[in-house]
Amino acid sequence: MSGQRGKGAPGQVKEVTSLANPIVKDIRALSVKKYRDQSGTFMAEGLKLVIEALDLGWEIRTLVIAKSQKTNAAVGKVAARTVAAGGLVLEVSEKVLTGITRRDNPQAVLAVFEQRFVPISDIRLTDGEVWVALDRVRDPGNLGTIIRTVDAVGAAGVILVGDTTDPYSLEAVRASMGSIFATQLAKCAAAVFLNWRKGAGGLMVGTHLKGAVDYREIDYAGPVILLMGNEQQGLPDDLADACDRLALIPQAGRADSLNLSVATGVMLYEIRRSALKVTG
Ligand SMILES: C[S@@+](CC[C@H](N)C(=O)[O-])C[C@H]1O[C@@H](n2cnc3c(N)ncnc32)[C@H](O)[C@@H]1O
Repeated sequence: MSGQRGKGAPGQVKEVTSLANPIVKDIRALSVKKYRDQSGTFMAEGLKLVIEALDLGWEIRTLVIAKSQKTNAAVGKVAARTVAAGGLVLEVSEKVLTGITRRDNPQAVLAVFEQRFVPISDIRLTDGEVWVALDRVRDPGNLGTIIRTVDAVGAAGVILVGDTTDPYSLEAVRASMGSIFATQLAKCAAAVFLNWRKGAGGLMVGTHLKGAVDYREIDYAGPVILLMGNEQQGLPDDLADACDRLALIPQAGRADSLNLSVATGVMLYEIRRSALKVTG
């Protein structure tokens, strides 16, 4: 894949009406993980989200806008910022937008950004910080929802452990509702995670259906690593054994477990309870 920036001269505005255009083809390919990995980029849709990304210091490589939105002042501003930073702006037909997003009624704006991952070795836990570690999370909707929740509660970020779904897939980015730009992400093999954890300090709390302690009974003072299990299999023994505590969220009905993102939300609100107050 030649990469979106290289195809047109940086800082340019181009009009494109064909799905056969090579830059458009490269952007469309970003729905496939292999091409996201090769290019190290991903796609996000929506004007609000793209403005938020810019405000958080992300740079747009390629901005795609519906021709019909050219005169929209906010879209014009984003286009100007993209060109000023050396990015490429494509003004495209409705057909091209639909083709890129594979959606009827697509958003009028989408942008291509560079992926960001923090090396796990750079993560140093500081007081009160909370990281969520996800063991082999499979569902992009769950992952995006967890990233959104991590952002909402003011947790530090997400560590993807083992073979997980891609946080930069279109589905995960959509489900994160923009929080993908505000949340630090790290990824590593389980053995690397366990090795990092040994020197990381803090409290590692795993959640487990065989957990011995009610999640409300744990003292979450200090930095916390919240470890959540895979949707089908839960936490494997080696990860569960490395936890300081294994927490259970009690249930009363027939369901045998909570959805992963719901369980993560319940845990995060308890861990961050003292930091989350309604004021006024
Ligand atoms: C859908 S559950 C996995 C169910 C899996 N069949 C099992 O046996 O663990 C996904 C993850 O959410 C968390 N989880 C869900 N319900 C929970 C509960 N009631 N108590 C503690 N953790 C829970 C755990 O981390 C679990 O590994």
